[in-house]
Amino acid sequence: MFHAQILTLFPEFFTSPLACSIPKRAIEAGLAQVDCLQIRDFSTDKHHNVDDKPYGGGPGMLMKAEPVVGSIREARKRDPQTHVVMLTPSGVPFNQAKALEYVEKRHITLLCGRYEGFDERICDEVDEQLSLGDYVLSGGEPAALSVLDALIRLLPGVLGSPESALLDSFTEEGMLDWPHYTRPEIFEGKSVPKVLLSGDHAKIDAWRKEQAAIRSKSRHLS
Ligand code: ADE
Repeated sequence: MFHAQILTLFPEFFTSPLACSIPKRAIEAGLAQVDCLQIRDFSTDKHHNVDDKPYGGGPGMLMKAEPVVGSIREARKRDPQTHVVMLTPSGVPFNQAKALEYVEKRHITLLCGRYEGFDERICDEVDEQLSLGDYVLSGGEPAALSVLDALIRLLPGVLGSPESALLDSFTEEGMLDWPHYTRPEIFEGKSVPKVLLSGDHAKIDAWRKEQAAIRSKSRHLS
């Protein structure tokens, strides 16, 4: 069983995305378990504060060390094998290779921040810092959700056909996927490439590989 824990101030953010389609099926089939921990529950001051002003001045607020570290330690207590990942724009970039690496670990904790960032001392408590890309989201939650979705669909038994994940874009030597077509054969005057109707599987394979290479090159991936 794949076990994910999410440390967040907004557990409700994850309710609907995990209750539909592939994540829902994976959870219902017992292939994945996802638990959210509310960071605010680990604040010990009387107002349950989770943020404070930065020392040295500057705009915005920071996530306080005490509640966040408390939530990380609880996640490690609940699942001693868990690999704790902080979502932050200054982390290493997420990609399909990382997704495969995390899925192998089977136990993952995703730490979501809000405000301007985390107190630096929180970083000592995590195993890794991860970024979804070079842009700034309003919080780590959309990043954590994307990572979680990318992992769940890779779990054995989750996708309808076991080859689907293997044929994904990026899986083969970092290449993009080839173009796909389904019925009708002609849509608004645009035809399906003839080779796909030929029944010649060697030719179809060669065409697909060539198209994937063209696409990957035009998008600077190879
Ligand atoms: N939090 C805010 N922006 C982020 C990003 N690009 N990746 C991961 N976490 C984030």
